[in-house]
Amino acid sequence: MDRESINRMFTRRRLQRLAGLLSLALVAGCHTDMWIQPKAKPLQQSDFFADGAASRPPVANTVAQGQLRTDDHLYTGIVAKKYVDEFPFAIAKQDIERGQDRFNIYCSPCHGALGDGKGMIAQRGLALRAQPATYHTERLRKMPVGYFFDVITHGHGAMFSYAQRVDPDDRWKIVSYIRALQLSQHSALEDLTAEEQGQIDEKPVGIGIAAAAGDTHAGTNGAAAGGHTEGGSKH
Ligand code: HEC
Repeated sequence: MDRESINRMFTRRRLQRLAGLLSLALVAGCHTDMWIQPKAKPLQQSDFFADGAASRPPVANTVAQGQLRTDDHLYTGIVAKKYVDEFPFAIAKQDIERGQDRFNIYCSPCHGALGDGKGMIAQRGLALRAQPATYHTERLRKMPVGYFFDVITHGHGAMFSYAQRVDPDDRWKIVSYIRALQLSQHSALEDLTAEEQGQIDEKPVGIGIAAAAGDTHAGTNGAAAGGHTEGGSKH
């Protein structure tokens, strides 16, 4: 076959026709009943039910599996109309660490890593209707743990609820970490045992970090500052 006859075979019109035929075959291959299935999607309209909605309300006086929440202490932080001042389960070190992890994700953007209300959002973000609270006030230090649980669950003033994002167990763990933060900013030397006092570095934590940051020999001094910070967090 010479070059010219090949060219003739593949004229533009022929190619177009071929493409058209191919796409027809594709369309015919799809059965619409595959993608329009007789099923109800959430919040869709329905002619089947009298109220015209596809989604069904829960059956009266029933509770979905795993959603029975009879323990007021655990799920509300309020017992006999009072905020509880005890955690509903024993708090171990891992729980505080989990609380720290959740706190850093959900709360620190506004309240700051220290809980002093100086998170990035407060400093540079949206113009907030109210400043995020600092947890280091006399009032909040005295608030029972149930209060903090309730604030996370329902929000407070300009702060919205975190109930959808943080489940009750994690809310308590965050509260345990808030308590740790409060202690970290408000403890006296006398609160420590003699042994713990002996472990305290003479140089204040803040100064150690500032010196390392301003120092050009960051290598060695940076490591030293790290040591100071660690010592500090143990207090
Ligand atoms: C989007 C910013 C934002 C985030 C994120 C946020 N908060 Fe707040 N929070 C606020 C603001 C603003 C206030 C002050 C509200 C007011 O006074 O109207 C506040 C107040 C509080 C208060 C003080 C209530 C009081 O009695 O003064 C607590 C406690 C608190 N938040 C805990 C939390 C915890 C715990 C989280 C994380 C689960 C969190 N917040 C996440 C903005 C935020």
